[in-house]
Amino acid sequence: MSSYIINGGKKLEGIVKISGSKNASLPIIAGAILNGKTTKLYNIPNIHDIQITLEILKLIGCKVKKKNDKITIDSSNIISYEIPYALMRQMRSSVIMAGAIVGRFKKAVFSYPGGCEIGARPIDLHLNGFRKLGINIEEEGGFIKCSCDKIVGTEIHLDFPSVGATENLILASVFAQGETIITNAAMEPEIVDLQNFLNLMGAKVEGAGTNVIRIKGVKNLKEVSYKIMPDRIEAGTFLCCCGITNGNIVLENVVPDHIVPVISKLEESGCKLYLQKDKIEIKAPKRLLCTEIKTMPYPGFPTDMQSIYGACMTVAKGTSIIIENIFENRYKYAGELIRMGAKISIEGRMAVIKGVRRLHATEVYSSDLRGGAALVVAGLHAKGITRINNIEYILRGYENFDKKLNNLGAEVTIKEGE
Ligand code: UD1
Repeated sequence: MSSYIINGGKKLEGIVKISGSKNASLPIIAGAILNGKTTKLYNIPNIHDIQITLEILKLIGCKVKKKNDKITIDSSNIISYEIPYALMRQMRSSVIMAGAIVGRFKKAVFSYPGGCEIGARPIDLHLNGFRKLGINIEEEGGFIKCSCDKIVGTEIHLDFPSVGATENLILASVFAQGETIITNAAMEPEIVDLQNFLNLMGAKVEGAGTNVIRIKGVKNLKEVSYKIMPDRIEAGTFLCCCGITNGNIVLENVVPDHIVPVISKLEESGCKLYLQKDKIEIKAPKRLLCTEIKTMPYPGFPTDMQSIYGACMTVAKGTSIIIENIFENRYKYAGELIRMGAKISIEGRMAVIKGVRRLHATEVYSSDLRGGAALVVAGLHAKGITRINNIEYILRGYENFDKKLNNLGAEVTIKEGE
């Protein structure tokens, strides 16, 4: 168990470069299974979730080389169609590999990813979609075996616009016979990135970014080099780190269009934001103002920003309301913020946050990735030493978080655990 030690109360100032997107990298790396050739990917963040994904690729027989933000994957000699249980438990989103494996080899074995800190996270939408594509699914002892002679394009309506199910079904139908149409598809920018990547490889996917995606099956794919989009949640996190410390920072390598709802809420809270094509400057007020947020599928306010923005609201003037509509268990961080002096009450999906003037530094525990990031935001504000334990969760999703913050004038050190 490692910890962040934050000497808080410092204004953030300077320039920060946003890394490549974690959530875009994962399905695109899975997509590298499809071509049976070499794929070069750039702007891949150096984070734990990517390491696990690459471990899975190696175990099934891919050759993987990694240098800084560049990885090369050779999927010509895959020898196994099974995603190892131990790795699957470590990272729920490895379920995304199943679509690519079954799409290419017409068979795949993986296990139920189980619950996680932010909710039950079922995969019924993934499996129902697979069945519609003609894939047989046998479930036994927690394992799911997929097999079929051929995958046949069809229309799949998602009951909910699940990001992972949309990506998995795209990957599974790239080689399908005929056309697959996914309706009520998720519209997240990461899905557009996946489409762009696959099309560069020779796939025929259109409509990503809208709620109807069409995939015309192809027979072959070619080698490809692709640069991953910037991480919109990391960008939003730095905006909040600045907002709570009444700082003034510039984000580089960011797509402002991807985080419109976060920008809009920060403006409501009194921040000034100056947008350019791939840069955002933010100047925070002396004290933020309260707001109301409701998390929604894209282009609504992202659930991944809920806790991080919530941390800002703990010191905003007035009472803020948050409604979490995507995951049922995403307020665990609130208890830790309360220990720091926040006034938060939770009722089902709603949190009511009465802004206090200052949080105080203390020892807290992170229990999931974005909840952990919320504690960092709070720790940057609170004067004195905040110790955040269990930062392994945070390291899953943020590249060099401590170094990037320190470049902006924060004082964050890592204390390695045993
Ligand atoms: C992805 C993101 C995660 C983000 C989430 C919502 C990745 C690696 N992770 O997760 O950071 O918080 O989108 O924006 O990209 N659901 C079902 N059945 C299913 C699938 C999902 O009921 O088969 C439900 C989930 O329980 C949840 C909701 O749908 O309540 C949204 O989940 P989904 O969009 O699938 O999230 P992920 O793809 O897991």
